Amino acid sequence: MTKKITVNTLKEMKLAGEKIASLTSYDASFAKLQDEAGIDVLLVGDSLGMVLQGDKTTRNVTMNDMIYHTRLVNNVRQRAMLISDMPYQSYTTAEQAVKNAKKLVNEGGADLVKLEGGEEISEIITAIKNSGIPVCGHIGLTPQSFSTSDGFKVQATTQEAAEKLKQDALAIEAAGCDCMVIECVPAEVASDVTQTLDIPTIGIGAGVDCDGQVLVLHDMLGITGKKFRFLKNFLEGNDSIAEAIKAYISEVKNKSFPAAEHKF
Ligand code: KIV
Repeated sequence: MTKKITVNTLKEMKLAGEKIASLTSYDASFAKLQDEAGIDVLLVGDSLGMVLQGDKTTRNVTMNDMIYHTRLVNNVRQRAMLISDMPYQSYTTAEQAVKNAKKLVNEGGADLVKLEGGEEISEIITAIKNSGIPVCGHIGLTPQSFSTSDGFKVQATTQEAAEKLKQDALAIEAAGCDCMVIECVPAEVASDVTQTLDIPTIGIGAGVDCDGQVLVLHDMLGITGKKFRFLKNFLEGNDSIAEAIKAYISEVKNKSFPAAEHKF
């Protein structure tokens, strides 16, 4: 029986300097390939609203969507840890957040739930954590804050904004987060936050010094055709999807991805 990745494994990896490789996952076929390739963390992201449902933002994704896709991924994963996104407006009060987090765990099979936001959601994070559910934070670019994709820009580009990001990171760590996604911020800022925190950081467009990396699966396979600076098409030069996923994991682990050309 393969040993499952847990929150404690991620913390040990941070201490040992071993990078965490993560990708989004939304269905059983891809999840099986990802798990067999050795991915550490599968993220059922609410990016599925854009990638699978064709919307301009993540805001129309529902709890039922998230439970459904989390269940599909959970059905086949053996080793990878499973994080599921709490969708827009599913955590506006502590009571609602705990109820919905429990659904993602009990009905979907998630190990952790992920919420977007800084200090202002500290109480919500603590309430979920106190209910026994591990939490992943998400700071920097937080797509649920935008009603159109026009707002998707690099964050924390001034000293003041970088300091605020760090304060947010510390606040949500203190509130009970077990790990944290940092999205689209300058590499130096993410590096500073990563060194400041005890919990692991998982970056997307945040440089190589985060404790791990995550990409949207359909972006790194070139399916969405997005050309963001922080992306790389791993299907180019590889003969199959399985080989592309293995190449991604290997480049994250040996720190060759993200390279200087991918950082802000
Ligand atoms: O929804 C998602 O896919 C995410 C990643 C981009 C980190 O939150």
